[in-house]
Amino acid sequence: MRHLLGTEQLSREHTLAILDTAQEMAAVGEREIKKLPALRGRTVVNLFFEDSTRTRISFEAAAKRLSADVINFSAKGSSVSKGESLKDTAQTLQAMGADAVVIRHWASGAPARLATSGWIDAAVINAGDGTHAHPTQALLDAFTMRAHWSKLQGIPSVGADLSGMRVLIAGDVLHSRVARSNVWLLRTLGAHVTLVAPPTLLPVGVEHWPCEVTYDLDAALDKGVDAVMMLRVQAERMNASFFPSTREYARRWGFDDARLARLDALDLKDTIIMHPGPMNRGLEISSAAADSPRSTVLAQVRNGVSVRMAALYLLLSGDLRETPTTPSVKD
Ligand code: CP
Repeated sequence: MRHLLGTEQLSREHTLAILDTAQEMAAVGEREIKKLPALRGRTVVNLFFEDSTRTRISFEAAAKRLSADVINFSAKGSSVSKGESLKDTAQTLQAMGADAVVIRHWASGAPARLATSGWIDAAVINAGDGTHAHPTQALLDAFTMRAHWSKLQGIPSVGADLSGMRVLIAGDVLHSRVARSNVWLLRTLGAHVTLVAPPTLLPVGVEHWPCEVTYDLDAALDKGVDAVMMLRVQAERMNASFFPSTREYARRWGFDDARLARLDALDLKDTIIMHPGPMNRGLEISSAAADSPRSTVLAQVRNGVSVRMAALYLLLSGDLRETPTTPSVKD
């Protein structure tokens, strides 16, 4: 595997290789040694056509912790605003010696285009494209769930998958690349996924995804759940016809204080609450839920650095090319 473009085609072996390597990277980060020489002399370009806080900064931190040189490119303030194309932008950066290009783009498919066009030689990592995919977010979410799940099962994380784990992903599925990438990755790792959303915020064809789908958040919680992942309402990608009222959305699909209390009432003491960020507090998640001891929001951000170190290291060292690919094993 030369590029990391999505999770649908990511084999179980490659997934576990990235998660296990991320665990080693996290262990390094916990010690005094903050930097590894693994990518010394290599250049990582962060090519961002859409806004980002977590993903861009954590890729930068990850590359620097591996001793790579980092070039940060933001479309805002660049020659993209003068009409420069993706091809010319990418080739300009390649001419500066990029070994890896981390790309976020508003257009679904832009990272795949970059990877397959022959325009550049660098490894391409998708940092989120349109509503299509956000593979490193799904990997850091899986890393976070795996740490929690393996602790509950009393087994070491290395080698463990998420078999038997019940994951509920709730909210604006229609616009969510995070939901799409998580559904496929969690399927590969053996978790059982339920999507909960208003009917207008579910994509056409969702019935073919490897998960259950429902509109009723409370009924889904009542069935029992080990992780609840709330999705951001992506107001910038929708018009009013998609959306119930803000108040109705929060009441029916928000993880509010009442639903936080419901986890206790259902005796779901080990259930974690996740959110990829940025959060709309008071809409899809209440502050009490976001800041509760159950919340993994900041752990997800922390784990993102280790997972991105692993992805950069494995792609640039060529180690993922050696791993045999097999189809995902779980349906
Ligand atoms: N989760 C996520 O992708 O956040 P950013 O948009 O801040 O990168």
